[in-house]
Amino acid sequence: MSISGKTVLVTGAAGFIGFYLSKYLLEQGPSVKVVGFDSVNDYYDVSLKEERLRILGETAGREDTGAFVFVKGNLADKALVDSVFKEHQPEIVVNLAAQAGVRYSITNPEAYIEANIIGFFHILEACRHSQEWFSGGVKHLIYASSSSVYGSNKKVPYSVDDKVDHPVSLYAATKKSDELLAYSYGKLYGIPMTGLRFFTAYGPLGRPDMAYFSFTNKLVNGEKIKIFNYGDMYRDFTYIDDIIKGVASVMQRIPDEDEDGVRYKLYNIGNSRPESLLDFVEILETCLLEEGIIKKRGERELLPMQQGDVYQTYADVSALEEDFGIRPETSLKEGLSRYAKWYKEFYGDEKS
Ligand SMILES: NC(=O)c1ccc[n+]([C@@H]2O[C@H](COP(=O)([O-])OP(=O)(O)OC[C@H]3O[C@@H](n4cnc5c(N)ncnc54)[C@H](O)[C@@H]3O)[C@@H](O)[C@H]2O)c1
Repeated sequence: MSISGKTVLVTGAAGFIGFYLSKYLLEQGPSVKVVGFDSVNDYYDVSLKEERLRILGETAGREDTGAFVFVKGNLADKALVDSVFKEHQPEIVVNLAAQAGVRYSITNPEAYIEANIIGFFHILEACRHSQEWFSGGVKHLIYASSSSVYGSNKKVPYSVDDKVDHPVSLYAATKKSDELLAYSYGKLYGIPMTGLRFFTAYGPLGRPDMAYFSFTNKLVNGEKIKIFNYGDMYRDFTYIDDIIKGVASVMQRIPDEDEDGVRYKLYNIGNSRPESLLDFVEILETCLLEEGIIKKRGERELLPMQQGDVYQTYADVSALEEDFGIRPETSLKEGLSRYAKWYKEFYGDEKS
């Protein structure tokens, strides 16, 4: 299913991944319309979300790009979600709005239930009723899950066929719940669905709550970096362009029916090359030194494992390769170097 001529609803459009996806879609040409939806909450620095929205407005202002409409609102507001579907009649919906973050879920569970369970339920309901509200209704719902659903999975690499019934955080539990809710709506109401388990996305204009960003801020301020599990942790860091390439490919293909006649598919989108946390810090520091953002390497404080954290994440991306012929390919050095360049430009004198 081509994106051309389509209206795409992107929730979480002011967020990291939603911003890049919306920008990519707008750049596909004037026949594309993107409806961005986001509460622009203050879970992290709102000025980053405002900057992303500013860039989207600027992109949409060019003649060769699609149109952008932005709705500021909460997915928990069912009437608002329904009205957006009725007014804009999206053929494709990409649900990226969520309360993200593993550690925050330990102290702020409500935010996760509101956005990831109630909010997602409202998206599913609106997709269901869209068939009554406009001709053809929503043809494909793509939604974000997370590598967190693998919990303490021992088998690597992590495959979507692995049993994932032991979440180690509420965040993971809400994401796994989304997958179950989505499947049931696919089965009951015939809505084609694709779930995406993202593995640690990073890049320019990224999320300040994530390790690479908070490490950078600490290094800039000359503070010690806290490294958990004494550095014995592995993450499959995935550069944002690779994430977007994956989402864009998946969006354009409605899944085939499974043996129960349900058009439902799950994919991992990860780099499939886990890096040790200590190597990661070394590479990050090298990139920050190269840009002159820091003058020397930082001090490390090695600490035990934190609640909610997992030992490693490692994506099996064979399904993505088989179905779409793509696999993430940006190296950590290349990706972090682009991030460091952006950080210097965005924060400039203010931080250094
Ligand atoms: N970035 C990653 O490494 C990663 C990894 C795994 C999964 N994910 C998932 O991918 C999706 C996008 O993540 P991101 O990194 O862009 O996060 P993000 O926090 O940058 O973006 C999420 C956006 O959703 C908005 N939002 C939150 N609750 C909302 C609500 N109730 N109603 C409307 N808007 C709301 C926020 O304001 C934010 O702008 C999320 O579902 C996240 O759980 C991300």
